[in-house]
Amino acid sequence: MSRVAGQARVPVLTIDGPSGSGKGTIARQVADRLGWHLLDSGALYRLVAVDAERKAVALDDDEGLARLAAHLDVEFAISADGSEQILLEGSDVTGAVRSEEAGIGASGVAVIPAVREALLGRQRAFRQAPGLVADGRDMGTQVFADADLKVFLTASADERAKRRYKQLKDKGIDVSLAAVSRDIVDRDRRDSERSVAPLKPAEDARILDSSGKPIEEVTQTVLDWVSNI
Ligand code: C5P
Repeated sequence: MSRVAGQARVPVLTIDGPSGSGKGTIARQVADRLGWHLLDSGALYRLVAVDAERKAVALDDDEGLARLAAHLDVEFAISADGSEQILLEGSDVTGAVRSEEAGIGASGVAVIPAVREALLGRQRAFRQAPGLVADGRDMGTQVFADADLKVFLTASADERAKRRYKQLKDKGIDVSLAAVSRDIVDRDRRDSERSVAPLKPAEDARILDSSGKPIEEVTQTVLDWVSNI
């Protein structure tokens, strides 16, 4: 491992990609297998949207939203049954954070430069030994531009919509495939076209198309790449 100013440099693997590409699942599996920390950066943008709703901060109040982002009092925990638990100021907001509304709200607050700036330090603080797997949209391009391995995970829009639809149905949420498809296409457009930290592969990213591939195969490909860094 390389050393910076006498300190061991903590390795980072970034996994970026569009909604529904499977990056959350793959990042979690890879982090578990390596025994590394995990940063789900999308959850932070979702939390800003959820906090704004709770505190009645308008989604066009850039300063108010940046203030929320800077002061988020959040804890990521694992509950007794092994499922994730997200606590905002001590209350369980896991369901709200994972909702479609929070995803849409997140992509709205994510275009505000002051919000992104306010979340930068918090994201970088996740880089702790023995290593970090960071998943998001700009992990390899902005937040961890010096990452040891950058993966850009894609899948066809059709397949991503079907996966998202199944996830929502499994959670008992009543949606149509057409509505989920529309949301995915809208969110992709907003994430890719924004001027600040748009969704795009880093120049040195390895592109991995997960269409039609089982999770285990994609996870293994990433682990093989990690073992060569
Ligand atoms: O990945 P997830 O669906 O949780 O992300 C929600 C939204 O947060 C994305 O659509 C995107 O607009 C924003 N986001 C971002 N940068 C990240 C992670 C998420 O802009 N690193």
